[in-house]
Amino acid sequence: MARKIIIDTDPGQDDAVAILLALASPEIEVLGLTAVAGNVPLHHTQRNALVLCELAGRPDLPVYAGAEAPLSRPLVTAEHVHGKTGLDGVTLPDPTMALTPGHAVDFLIETLRREPAGTVTLVPIGPLTNIAMAFQRAPDIIPRVQEIVLMGGAYFEVGNITPTAEFNIYVDPEAASLVFAAGAPLTVMPLDVTHKALTSRPWVEQMRAMGRIGQAIASWTDFFERYDREKYGSEGAPLHDPCTIAWLLAPQLFSGRFINVEIETRGEFTLGMTVADWWRVSGRTPNATFIRDVDVKGLFELLTRRIGELDRRLG
Ligand code: RIB
Ligand code: CA
Repeated sequence: MARKIIIDTDPGQDDAVAILLALASPEIEVLGLTAVAGNVPLHHTQRNALVLCELAGRPDLPVYAGAEAPLSRPLVTAEHVHGKTGLDGVTLPDPTMALTPGHAVDFLIETLRREPAGTVTLVPIGPLTNIAMAFQRAPDIIPRVQEIVLMGGAYFEVGNITPTAEFNIYVDPEAASLVFAAGAPLTVMPLDVTHKALTSRPWVEQMRAMGRIGQAIASWTDFFERYDREKYGSEGAPLHDPCTIAWLLAPQLFSGRFINVEIETRGEFTLGMTVADWWRVSGRTPNATFIRDVDVKGLFELLTRRIGELDRRLG
């Protein structure tokens, strides 16, 4: 039985790789994509989600537009990382498929109420606004969630958009605080692990030698890696969001701890910080499996296999 998921996303080149990995994997049934404003404004993220479905040969997949701004703050975007469109690095044709009518939050609520309890996993890989809005509007769906597997936060790596905060959490800290406190089973892929998921030049060239999916990933990586190379001096692009899907496919590749994680929503210098009690000193109740390490070789072998299979399927 395939695992049913909804990917809540702000594509973003790394979101794109995560979505393609999910659509390439028979163990996963993607019930739909819900777009949220984040890396770039909503009109770009919703378009990018449609473009990715068509690239993957899935014009049937429901794609919903969601929140165009955080719960209670102005939107902060990251064009400096992802480019103006969010998928800079490759020029893809405008989508012919349309958004599915309706709001992303209603889709989240209706799906979780319709599907048997405990059978739908939420995979947020952007700011958590849509998820928080769904939980606020329909608290009855929270116990029906099988698991939330999100990319966001940091502990040892501290922050990437501010000295103390990771982008997805920083954009909507109030939403993150609500989701982390909701009580649904929560697995967090923070910068601590995603900064280890760095592409290598040989792997990128292996992608480039594949079909159009691999070639797109290679070109997105070429564009996306420049930010981290300039900032951290690292070689390669961090595949943040694909770590969530890889966790669903091969959790044995990862390791972490079940700890308490709180979200700073008032700090003058620490807004959006994930206060991860890694050393369990706070006495606060654990609420998240906080991942710190990954078998990088195994992760990229999984990506290569699945993207190769998808490319061969699409011909
Ligand atoms: O901090 C990395 C996260 O922010 C990733 O999800 C990336 O796509 C951006 O949304
Ligand atoms: Ca993202």
